[in-house]
Amino acid sequence: MLGRLDQIEREALAALEKARDQEALQAWKVKYLGRSAEIGAIMEGLRELPKEQRPAVGRRANEVKRALEAAYEARLEALRQAVVARSLEQERLDVTLPGRPLPRGRVHPANQTLRQILAIWAEMGFQVYRSREVETDAYNFELLNIPAHHPARDMWDTFYTTREGVLLRTHTSPGQIHVMRERAPEPLRVVLPGMCYRYEQITARSEIQFNQVEGLAIGSRITFADLKGTLIAFAKRMFGQQVRTRFRASHFPFTEPSAEMDVECFVCGGEGCSVCKRTGWLEILGCGMVHPVVLQNGGYDPARFSGFAFGMGPERITMLKHRIEDIRYFWANDLRFLEQF
Ligand code: DAH
Repeated sequence: MLGRLDQIEREALAALEKARDQEALQAWKVKYLGRSAEIGAIMEGLRELPKEQRPAVGRRANEVKRALEAAYEARLEALRQAVVARSLEQERLDVTLPGRPLPRGRVHPANQTLRQILAIWAEMGFQVYRSREVETDAYNFELLNIPAHHPARDMWDTFYTTREGVLLRTHTSPGQIHVMRERAPEPLRVVLPGMCYRYEQITARSEIQFNQVEGLAIGSRITFADLKGTLIAFAKRMFGQQVRTRFRASHFPFTEPSAEMDVECFVCGGEGCSVCKRTGWLEILGCGMVHPVVLQNGGYDPARFSGFAFGMGPERITMLKHRIEDIRYFWANDLRFLEQF
């Protein structure tokens, strides 16, 4: 009988080693310590043993039973610890890990320039006036002193709509007429930014869609000197205080006289390079004194009022500033391009 008890102990402890979860442990407990466990039967059967064997077998049976109970408790505790340890491991937070980077958007390079231009004009007291992109022939051309069939129309290849006389504006200049008609006879200082459209072959140098910033100042004594002084002040703020500028005579139907302003090439400092095509100068805007016919069309009496106007292209200025060689990048939505700004 003592031998059998040793055997039970060995067998039970070996089985306990193999119990890997709560369920197996429960089954083990039923089998070795439960109501119908063999050890219980042995204890019950003590009475039937010869008297001299009873104390030794009884003591040993108790010993085995307590040993199994202790082993069970230890195993149960070990399993619990393992569960806790596993969940701690799985849910562990490594606070030293770097954060996940959030992809950060950027302002489109053309819009960066546009904002800079508008901020400078705002500092100089020019209000932003937004004008429509779908225009009539009258506003886009005729009221700006460009009659039908006038050769100057060749300067702007136009997208026409199916509606007679309705088109996509080819420049921001028609906004001049809108703002004048709204405000006359008040003095005016406005900039008119926005998208323009031209029916052109898309190449590295020309797009069918681009921004312009138009400017218009009207008052009782505005002169060509005001135009030059104001545009030079703008150029200094935009390109640096030391930048040199020059004006060249030009022609636009809506201004008289007309000019174009060049700034000293900021790539080569005026030495001559591929960006300025060896001239040392970059053309950045067209300008002039508002033509009397245009003043009149806007509701200002040309005998009492005068004004200057100008128009520039933010994409073109951005290209010059960053030496971008192909205007098509602006609409290509290629992140490799956009992420550089
Ligand atoms: N509208 C002209 C263009 O698109 C640019 C321009 C030139 C605007 C002279 C002006 C100006 O206001 O005075 O080519």
